[in-house]
Amino acid sequence: MHDIVLTIFALTGLLALVSLLLPLADRLAIPYAVLLAAVGCAIGGVIALVGNTVGVGIVGDLVHALDGFNLTAEALLYIFLPVLLFETALNVDVQHLTEEIAPVLLLAVIGVLVSTMVVGIALWAAFGVTLVACLLLGAVVATTDPVAVVAIFRDIGAPRRLSMLVEGESLFNDAAAIALYALLLTMLTGEHPSSPLHAVVDFLRAFAGGLAAGYVAGLLVSRVSPVLRDHDLAETTLTIALAYLIFVISEHYLAVSGVVAVVTAGLVINHEGRRRLSPSSWKVLIRTWEQIGFWATSLIFLLAAMMVPGLLAEARLYQVAELAVLTIATFAARAITLYGLLPMLSGLGLAERVGRDHKLVILWGGMRGAVSLALALATTENTALAPEIRQFVGVLATGFVLFTLFVSAPTLRPLMRLLRLDQLSPAELALRDRVTALYLSTIGEDIDNVARQHGIAGAAVDNAASWYRGRAAAAALIAEENAQLPPESLLRSSIRILVEREQELYRQHFDARAMSRRALARLLSRTAQLRDAVKSGGIAEYRAAAAKVVGFPRDFRFDLALQRYVGIEWPLARAIADRFEAQLTARVVVDELRAFNADQLRRLFGDGPCKTVDATLATRLDLISQAIDALMLQYPGYASALQTQFLTLRAIRLEEEQYQRLRAESIVTSEVFNDLMRSLGHRRSAAEKRPRLDLGLKRADLVARVAIFAQIDARKRAKICRLLRAQLALPGEVILRKGERGDSMFFISSGAVEVRIEPRPVRLGTGDFVGELAMLDSRPRSADVVALGFCQLLRLSSRDFDRLMRADDSLREQIRSIADQRRDSAAAN
Ligand code: CMP
Repeated sequence: MHDIVLTIFALTGLLALVSLLLPLADRLAIPYAVLLAAVGCAIGGVIALVGNTVGVGIVGDLVHALDGFNLTAEALLYIFLPVLLFETALNVDVQHLTEEIAPVLLLAVIGVLVSTMVVGIALWAAFGVTLVACLLLGAVVATTDPVAVVAIFRDIGAPRRLSMLVEGESLFNDAAAIALYALLLTMLTGEHPSSPLHAVVDFLRAFAGGLAAGYVAGLLVSRVSPVLRDHDLAETTLTIALAYLIFVISEHYLAVSGVVAVVTAGLVINHEGRRRLSPSSWKVLIRTWEQIGFWATSLIFLLAAMMVPGLLAEARLYQVAELAVLTIATFAARAITLYGLLPMLSGLGLAERVGRDHKLVILWGGMRGAVSLALALATTENTALAPEIRQFVGVLATGFVLFTLFVSAPTLRPLMRLLRLDQLSPAELALRDRVTALYLSTIGEDIDNVARQHGIAGAAVDNAASWYRGRAAAAALIAEENAQLPPESLLRSSIRILVEREQELYRQHFDARAMSRRALARLLSRTAQLRDAVKSGGIAEYRAAAAKVVGFPRDFRFDLALQRYVGIEWPLARAIADRFEAQLTARVVVDELRAFNADQLRRLFGDGPCKTVDATLATRLDLISQAIDALMLQYPGYASALQTQFLTLRAIRLEEEQYQRLRAESIVTSEVFNDLMRSLGHRRSAAEKRPRLDLGLKRADLVARVAIFAQIDARKRAKICRLLRAQLALPGEVILRKGERGDSMFFISSGAVEVRIEPRPVRLGTGDFVGELAMLDSRPRSADVVALGFCQLLRLSSRDFDRLMRADDSLREQIRSIADQRRDSAAAN
């Protein structure tokens, strides 16, 4: 048979096997990865035994095909690694990962270094093998593989944090171990005589370079994705291309770590893409990646395991002792990181403490898998290395991988059961009981009704309904329990749920296409702040954070500065439009939260917490309404345009639901349905384009609105106009600060300000001016002046002040006389 036909035969044969192994692993209740490894080893063994004796025919050809499946370690890594890493990065909870980044990086990067050192030195000291070779072996066995462990965790419902630590570790330690491996290899083969210092610098450079390359590429692709909008297949394809391209480009053209680049790119797509892609596209993308990831995991495990018999065939009996030392050293190294270094991190306040049981599971659950096997294989294939080193690394690394897969993995589950990590925490148990009691209590009656409807009676009804009836009794107990529990703990539980709900509601609004991605991003980052506040404190922190999030964030101030000092206006206009949209949605959502609180949270936690939460939400609503009012006052036209857009989108959504119903009930044919949806799609795209906000900072218009410029003749006014700069002040912004040196004055074209003077503040509005006293008297500012809402101002610098005073006599006199009055009133007080 032709080579390519044989390859296809072998590959698809393996895929067929894989599809059977997954349900088999379930049935046998062993981790899938372990079964794969076992079957792979078995296939490898059979081929080694009978490879030369079988003839032609289906079985013979399949054996030959698998035997001749000459996949080098390099090919194995290049084909599978980008997919495996990218897929894991795509599915990690990025927010959770950032919270745990310190322990994750410690386990991954420092852990790999410690492991390599300890293993290297132990073997070198015990058996006298070259140190660098021992270190190389250390690097090979330093990468953990999450596949087996995460499956076990998922199966027995392990705590989220534990999964995060293990998954995060394996995501980054491949990078660290492979980079280290490459370095040690160059030291061994002597291509570049490298000093330890060089080695460290190279390592850091490769790591940081990979980080930058992956970040830029990920960002680039996530920016391009919206252009491919509604072409799910194209979007998914682009991410697959990204995983491979960034790997190859980083490794071969940029000489930085491809592994780090892939992981980073995956994380960026995870974080950015989720916001930029439509929810349905994101689902398609994740599903496709899940499939590809499954193929990659299965095949790399099988193929790598198939090579195990070959590697072990060279093993010598004395190597059992080496393997024992290797195993002890690896666990010791992990213990040093977990019990020595990790507590230091918590001591420094960089990480939450990791519990004793968690540490034990992480220690025992550090499985090694396909990457270690592939690296071991790569070592044995490397002809530049001495044969005894190749044999040493190949045999021991393989032996150790098998040990973790066949000894640690099967015993991990019992260990976790022993530590009771498969059980819910007391708080979670309490919530579970509450939920089942409160929400299932009416199901008993529902079953009675269904039974009656279908003419079922007797024991069948009682059998089916008895547990639910018991819930009703439990519900009554909850009320008593509420009365006994400390109110703060109930309140805390309510706000925890509340912030989660808020996030969910924003997503729903976005899914219903009722707001833009930019507004969603803004609102989600605000909810993240609220959630952090709840975590670190209670309701008080939540209130403080709620007041803070209606303020203007840092990037907003940046856009403002761009307008003021550089004269670039559009980022500010966009930021204000975003704010408008976000606040309008926030108002709707906080309203919904109040209803949710009155309905669900009251049911769960009782009246007391419900009242407190409601009062807090009412305050939030006030703050948001104030912010919206300020915007409406300044930009009424834009507010109405946004409201029109909101209603139009809602109408289109309703229209879509109608069409879907008509189609589901076969009232319209699929052709008619598609036609209707196409036209709806066009209208929706048009409606989704947010109206542009005009900041209204045209100088001439603003000048025309200031009374004292009105009487001046047109030519002079044009001259004066050139001296002035238009700018926007934010609600609450301190425009002038008492005691500061004055370098400008302001004319108010629209809006209102408050001059904070004793005994009573003075309000000034459109047509007035402030800041003239410091100019005239060359003295510090006499009072604070604060914007009451958005204000359009015309700024006149002190340099141009004299020119203005010279430009027109009556203007000068008017300014002087108002200034005199103000001085007099100050003196009178
Ligand atoms: P300046 O002293 O530069 O900064 C504070 C400004 O507040 C001041 O200029 C005036 O423009 C304004 N101001 C001070 N006192 C009064 C007042 N009594 N009535 C109105 N505006 C005032």
